[in-house]
Amino acid sequence: MWPMQPTKPAAYPEIFSSFQMGHLTLKNRIVVPPMLQLRPITLPQGIGWYRRLAAGGAAWVTVEVTSVWRFGKDLTVATLKPLVDAMHREGVGVGIQLFPVEFGADQDPNTLSPERIDETFEAYAYAAGICQGAGFDAVEPHGAHGYLINQFFMPDRNRRTDRYGGTLQNRCRFAQRIVQRIRKEVGGAYLIFYRHTPVGQAYGIDDSLEMAKGLVEAGVNVLDISPAKRDVEADLAKPFKRFGVPVIAVNGMEDLNAASRAVREERCDLVAIGRSLIADAQLPRKIQQGRESEILSCLKCDAGCFGHLRKRELVYCAAWQKDEVAAYVAQ
Ligand SMILES: Cc1cc2nc3c(=O)[nH]c(=O)nc-3n(C[C@H](O)[C@H](O)[C@H](O)COP(=O)(O)O)c2cc1C
Repeated sequence: MWPMQPTKPAAYPEIFSSFQMGHLTLKNRIVVPPMLQLRPITLPQGIGWYRRLAAGGAAWVTVEVTSVWRFGKDLTVATLKPLVDAMHREGVGVGIQLFPVEFGADQDPNTLSPERIDETFEAYAYAAGICQGAGFDAVEPHGAHGYLINQFFMPDRNRRTDRYGGTLQNRCRFAQRIVQRIRKEVGGAYLIFYRHTPVGQAYGIDDSLEMAKGLVEAGVNVLDISPAKRDVEADLAKPFKRFGVPVIAVNGMEDLNAASRAVREERCDLVAIGRSLIADAQLPRKIQQGRESEILSCLKCDAGCFGHLRKRELVYCAAWQKDEVAAYVAQ
């Protein structure tokens, strides 16, 4: 037959190819990273926020940082299930990030008593069991960005003289025990992500690789590598590929040319896109359908997202029109 219609090549084949993660097949490589947004995740406002993120074409959503100490109180199988079900109905995998302290509580690794450390391991296990029961596909201890678990790892923050401080092996122990305890609770097949910051002021990539090796041995099956500084290259994820578990890279991944290159060059398996998906959750679908011109781009102004978080106000996007702001903020 002639003339033949030229067929448009599929956009970004590396990004829009499926990916096997444990027993789950993800429809593409786009992950929504954990992003605190301050609407209650068990109530319609929070569920609506997450349904919007899940419905835009990404393959995976990790729900925001959540204190393990809330489980068994306001967070139970029954209260979390509507959130998980709503997102699953949109065809995404669903994880949740777990935090070792209550928000606003002291985060000094040097003042945590041995008893409280053990209680923290138990709280992680208990929380993970509830998450599993509610249908989450994964849990992710938050070991990044200079918060408590990351501080245990930092030689300039951790001055402990017991088995959780001093040597590199000791400084890794808090994180690894958390993972071991979760693994014992959830069994072998369940996904455990771990978010880690690959370089800090007082530690480099080699120390982080030791940490990651121990984490994978302890039961982590997805490494979520998040440099503390935003807007730096995702290259820092690449060394973590050596452990044979999927690696997520973040920062600048809304540029799907850069994201494709990162996947093609095997620097990562999955790409996390944060603020740009707050701005326009439909970004993946619009790109896939050749509707780039319709994307509402993140301005990188950080006004409605990080700016609002700092003020403890509901997160939204400053690029939104007034009616969208009303829908997501005024609830
Ligand atoms: C509003 C907001 C809340 C965030 N909350 C979390 C969080 O709960 N846990 C976390 O590890 N990172 C958090 N982050 C960081 C993001 O997960 C992501 O790493 C960061 O935004 C960089 O990606 P981006 O440039 O694509 O936005 C947050 C970011 C934003 C904008």
